[in-house]
Amino acid sequence: MSKWQELENKYYMQVVKRLPLTITKGLGARVWDENGKEYLDFVSGWAVNSLGHCHPALVTAVTEQAKTLIQTSNQFYTIPQIQLAEILVENSCLDKVFFSNSGAEANEGAVKLARRYGKLHLNGAYEVITTTNSFHGRTLAMVSATGQAKFQQPYTPIPSGFVNVAYNSIEAIKKATSEQTCAVMLEPIQGEGGVNVPADDYLATVRDWCDQQGLLLILDEIQTGVARTGTLFAYEQYSVEPDIMTLAKGLGSGVPIGAIMAKESASVFAPGDHGSTFGGNVLTCAAAYATVKFIIDHDIAGQVKKRGEYFISRLTSLQQKYNFITDIRGRGLLVALEFNQDIAEDLLNTCLSQGLLINQVKPNTIRFMPPLIISQQDIDEALDILDSTISGIVG
Ligand SMILES: Cc1ncc(COP(=O)(O)O)c(C=O)c1O
Repeated sequence: MSKWQELENKYYMQVVKRLPLTITKGLGARVWDENGKEYLDFVSGWAVNSLGHCHPALVTAVTEQAKTLIQTSNQFYTIPQIQLAEILVENSCLDKVFFSNSGAEANEGAVKLARRYGKLHLNGAYEVITTTNSFHGRTLAMVSATGQAKFQQPYTPIPSGFVNVAYNSIEAIKKATSEQTCAVMLEPIQGEGGVNVPADDYLATVRDWCDQQGLLLILDEIQTGVARTGTLFAYEQYSVEPDIMTLAKGLGSGVPIGAIMAKESASVFAPGDHGSTFGGNVLTCAAAYATVKFIIDHDIAGQVKKRGEYFISRLTSLQQKYNFITDIRGRGLLVALEFNQDIAEDLLNTCLSQGLLINQVKPNTIRFMPPLIISQQDIDEALDILDSTISGIVG
């Protein structure tokens, strides 16, 4: 254990089982540890560093903004906040936006918005249907929304107002709908739940049901949004439009920011209904604006689609070689590889020693979330390391 790791042990709450790596520098798709060892980063801060580490567009935006204005209160207008709102609205199906500091906080706001809508238009309905294996964040209400017992049990009693039903089942949503229901909240592809891609018509059937029942459809695009799955937003691939959408993670390419977006009809907050001291902060909005503008101007979503297809084709070759690879799933650059044995942790540790960062999303499943600007050569390099690691572990 290095000096820094010992100090962390002494001073920091032990809520994460950390890997034995202290990252001190990053550039593009690579990071370096305190001893100067280089790693190829296929985790990118848990699907956050969209433009890779320290991208010049981001560094320039943050540097210039830090020299100009960092924070004011939300009682005043600030230009980066408005520019970011405009670029997100003009490039999505949503009409209004509010910025938060994280994904969980964006989801909290989205649920508040749905409850407000319920009070105004649905006779006070307040319940939100969410799905098992979902992940919506770590605040108390979002732990309730998250359909995984392991996140709920340590904190019981958890807030009421959420019903968790099976993912990828319209029947389960229909059965759970009652007079108390105001919204259905889903990830278009479940990220933390294991990169679970629903049937092609799932979101459309949920949309139809919401329309029939007058419910809001909230899409949590915190992991799938901002080009991660090969379109600017994942909903575009399913021919549906949400009433409310949340973003975070890749939105600021590493600078913490979240967003609640809503259609005009669902945008029912009135002055005083919601707020945040730091939400919409000038510095983070300048960073996110530079990120989103770069992604749109350079068709990064199109590039992600191509790279994702190449990545999956190389994983498919691996599957032909190793028959204990049981599944490859994902879209764009959000991809999982599942095994018929619990080897994810061993694989992760060996890849780490070989200079490749990957993520264990389940004991038998690893997940890849490289920066959106990853090159084909970097994908090849990562796959070569993975191949030799797998053969070393099971060979
Ligand atoms: C789909 C989804 N929603 C919400 C969150 C929570 O975001 P944050 O960790 O920024 O609060 C996450 C984080 O992994 C996520 O993947």
